[in-house]
Amino acid sequence: MKNIKILSIETSCDETSCAILQVKNKNLNLLSHTIYSQIKDHIKHGGVVPEFAARLHVPKIIPVIEHTLSKANILPKDISAIAVTTGPGLITSLLVGINTACVLSYVWQKPLISVNHMEGHIVSSLLSNGLDAIQSPAICLTVSGGHTELVLVKNFGDYTIIGKTRDDAVGECFDKVAKMLGLTYPGGPKISILATQSKNKIEFTPPMLNSDDLDFSFSGLKTAVLYKIKELGGLTQLSEQQKADIANGFENSAIQVLIHKTQKAITKFKAKTLLIGGGVCANTKLRTNIQNLLNTNTNLKILIPELEFCGDNAGMIALAGYFKFIKNEFADIKNFRPDPNWSVGTKHEYI
Ligand code: KG4
Ligand code: ZN
Repeated sequence: MKNIKILSIETSCDETSCAILQVKNKNLNLLSHTIYSQIKDHIKHGGVVPEFAARLHVPKIIPVIEHTLSKANILPKDISAIAVTTGPGLITSLLVGINTACVLSYVWQKPLISVNHMEGHIVSSLLSNGLDAIQSPAICLTVSGGHTELVLVKNFGDYTIIGKTRDDAVGECFDKVAKMLGLTYPGGPKISILATQSKNKIEFTPPMLNSDDLDFSFSGLKTAVLYKIKELGGLTQLSEQQKADIANGFENSAIQVLIHKTQKAITKFKAKTLLIGGGVCANTKLRTNIQNLLNTNTNLKILIPELEFCGDNAGMIALAGYFKFIKNEFADIKNFRPDPNWSVGTKHEYI
């Protein structure tokens, strides 16, 4: 019986993360998982500063890997392969993980696997639902700080983007609206907490609700919030109630369009499984609305990641790496480069 252990590294943005995933007789067991978040260091800048993020990964990456190995009680010789995020993401942050993975691969004599960060988000819900959870065709809604995509998943490794944002990602929009309302980075979770205090939501038109395609656009919604704040006299004039009502109206509008386009994709592709992934999946209202799709799609299987696996984490990278491991899709250490704009479902561009 095969007993595969993938050590994974994720440093695409502001989380330094490592995981060890064991796959034995098709059973998944995350032996250990460490996430070191840089959020507290970026708060004062109002968002992630790329060069600063890369510098912060440097002193953390080795301790995070050592901690993960010792928590799993694993020696390097027991590892089957090393999987690392090579894109999309911040190039300097990606380089820290990639260089570390290359050195470990060389020293430990273990194969190297290049993983697309968005593929990690696509498979993240399987970490708690198991390898056999997906029935094809499947649709995945990925919603993060950098991406908003609907992806047709025909098989692991076979992805087609069927809809995406034409401008801002939904997470980015949550963060920008939060900033307008005087909330600190990352604003997504704070918007939803604030929205729970709302009594009368201030309505915003959901963007591109009636467009023929499966695309999204969130920059107009962000501007509509900005104009509303101006109309009410600016941030300093807003009452706490008005801020909560704006947060509530904005959140509802963004989620309404995500749900609407997801339903459209389910119908169009006769999906049997719906997956979701990415940081915005931690949003309670989104999770509830996604679950409610079962009311109208009674045969649909819905897979939602645990909160631990919504944001950036190496657990999902290990699982995406496993799918490449079983297909012997290994990377060449001599030609291993980051691909900061790597679109899921396409070939890695070596730059
Ligand atoms: O996947 P992720 O951790 O990083 C990227 O790959 O971008 O996603 C981060 C994004 C941020 O924009 C953050 O504000 C958003 O996810 N987010 C949320 C919530 N929790 C995190 N947005 C809305 N509601 C939340 N509860
Ligand atoms: Zn992410």
